[in-house]
Order: sequence, then structure tokens, then C-alpha cells
Amino acid sequence: MKNKSNIVLIGFMGCGKSTIGKILANKLDYYFYDTDILVEKEIGMPISKYFAEHGETEFRLLEERIISQVSMRSKAVIASGGGIVKNHNNILSLRNNGIIFYLKGSPNFIFDRLRYDTTRPLLNTNNKLETIKNLLKERSPLYENASDFIIDIDNQSSDDIVVSILSHIRR
Ligand code: S3P
Repeated sequence: MKNKSNIVLIGFMGCGKSTIGKILANKLDYYFYDTDILVEKEIGMPISKYFAEHGETEFRLLEERIISQVSMRSKAVIASGGGIVKNHNNILSLRNNGIIFYLKGSPNFIFDRLRYDTTRPLLNTNNKLETIKNLLKERSPLYENASDFIIDIDNQSSDDIVVSILSHIRR
């Protein structure tokens, strides 16, 4: 694992992949890539608008292309969209040159964070907590299988999480 030069953050929406990723990249003096932002740059609109106009399938195709490109970088911290594990090709690409960390939050913790969020199209439902629980049930095994390390994030500060990730890398 020591010869892999990227750090990849996976996990559910609202688990802080982008926030933690930026801090890590700063500390390590690595590049920072956020796959959602790269997708938004390419489509020229927010992901929620793209979902509404083109649907999830189109979004996932774009996401796969962006991930295969960003996976070829080195010395990069990559914050990924919460749904990348739905397509195993994404994991294969990211794993090539990356150590994968799963930022694992519980449904209630995630719900508290995303209670008022309107930017996640998959969570714009009548019962957000229920949707989070259902999606997590489906995705947890995928996140767990895809990851090299699992970091519990409930009630942890960003700094705690960063320290924990760094301790795995430096071991
Ligand atoms: C998604 C997560 C979002 C974004 C899109 C779909 C998902 O990214 O890619 O709304 O399926 O979990 P974040 O995890 O950065 O919110």
C-alpha cells in the first residue's frame, strides 16, 4: 500500500469527504480533487439540475469518466461522490493508485447534518431519514468492501478524523 500515492475518501453524502479532503491535501501538500466539482465543471450546472434534466444514469456515466481520469493522478487527495460505489469500475480505477478510506457515519448523524440540505437530489423525498437509512443499508457493504480503512465519524471533529487518517498512512 505504501507505493500508492493517492488518498481516496468514500462514504455517504454529508460525511465530510470534501472538508476532510481539503484539510488532508493541505497538510500533505497534495493536490485536491472533488469528483462532484469536476462533474459540475464539465456540465456547467449544479448536479441537482443535471439529475432533474438528464437523470441519474447520465450522471453516473459522466461520473465514471471523471473518476477514471482523476484516478490517474498522483499525490492527490480525491473526495468522491457518495454514489460512486454503485459502479465497481470506479473502485477498480481508484484502487489502482489510491488508498481508500471510508468515512462512516450513522443514519441519524447524517440526517442531522443534511436535514436542511437541498443540493442532494436523491434525498429530496418526503422522509429524508428513511431514505438515508434505506440507501445506507444498500450501500454500507459496498463502502466497506471497497475500503482499505474505515473511519467512524460520528461526533468526531474534522481534526480528529484527519489525525486518524494520517495515522493509517504513516504506519
Ligand atoms: C450522490 C452523492 C453526491 C452527488 C450526487 C449523488 C449519491 O455527492 O454525487 O448528488 O448518490 O450519494 P456527495 O456525497 O459529495 O454529497
